[in-house]
Amino acid sequence: MSSPLTHLAGASASALGGYVARLGAGAVLALGLVLGGCGNPVIDAEIEALGGEAEGVAPGEFHRPGQPCALCHNDYPGEDPLMAVAGTVFADPVSFHPVEGAEVILYDAVGQIFRKETNCIGNFFWTRDEADPQFPFAVEVRCPTYNTDGTPKTDPTGKPIFKVKAMGSWVSRDRSCAGCHSLTGRQLDSTGWIYCNTQQEAATNPYPPIAETCAGKPPRQKGAASE
Ligand code: HEC
Ligand code: HEC
Repeated sequence: MSSPLTHLAGASASALGGYVARLGAGAVLALGLVLGGCGNPVIDAEIEALGGEAEGVAPGEFHRPGQPCALCHNDYPGEDPLMAVAGTVFADPVSFHPVEGAEVILYDAVGQIFRKETNCIGNFFWTRDEADPQFPFAVEVRCPTYNTDGTPKTDPTGKPIFKVKAMGSWVSRDRSCAGCHSLTGRQLDSTGWIYCNTQQEAATNPYPPIAETCAGKPPRQKGAASE
């Protein structure tokens, strides 16, 4: 004897078959998404709002600087590679000029320390294969420094001098620095993107132009902070 449930499932499946046959391809696709039921409309909408790739930039370590990397590189929607933590470091609060060679350091809840350098477009990341920082963790960014003539600043022994920017609070669950440090600049929902120089410091610590060989492009200036 078939249970009412099996009966119902069988009936609706065949009814659905007839129904689907009468619909266009687009409607079938939409129906499939609804029935699939594994999407997350909130995250989908946030991803959609980020827009497509910058022209001429392939998906990879140099793409989408300043965007919340782990919105996409997370269990859902699961873009490869899954990120443990990722973000971007910029030069100042008014431009999207990237800082290459900044060192990002995480001090996690169980005493592990992780270090990464930013690439030519300012991005850094730890994939989940590389690192498993435990929340909450503290964050510090060591920014490279330059003389006004553009040469790297060093101490008398020739070691580069870094300027330390430490986050006063802990990161307790977001794998994307840009989850809080968004590209919209300082606002109610954002503490502003991560940067090395205040506007005043920009003249005395000039960051070099983006390397010509760099495969990334900075974010569009639209939406830059009015700070
Ligand atoms: C809007 C979604 C989205 C965002 C935001 C995003 N990525 Fe990606 N990323 C992708 C997709 C899609 C791919 C291609 C995945 C594939 O090939 O399977 C990709 C690929 C990559 C790869 C793998 C390249 C390779 O060859 O294996 C790296 C590394 C990467 N992204 C880093 C980043 C970093 C760092 C950020 C943040 C600064 C970021 N992504 C932000 C969607 C995104
Ligand atoms: C939960 C939101 C949040 C996340 C996620 C977050 N931050 Fe922050 N960050 C803040 C807030 C708020 C401040 C300012 C107050 C403070 O220092 O605690 C800040 C300050 C900073 C500062 C100091 C800024 C300055 O000019 O002195 C740095 C550097 C920084 N964050 C780096 C990072 C990095 C790198 C990541 C990712 C690994 C990250 N933050 C993730 C909220 C966040």
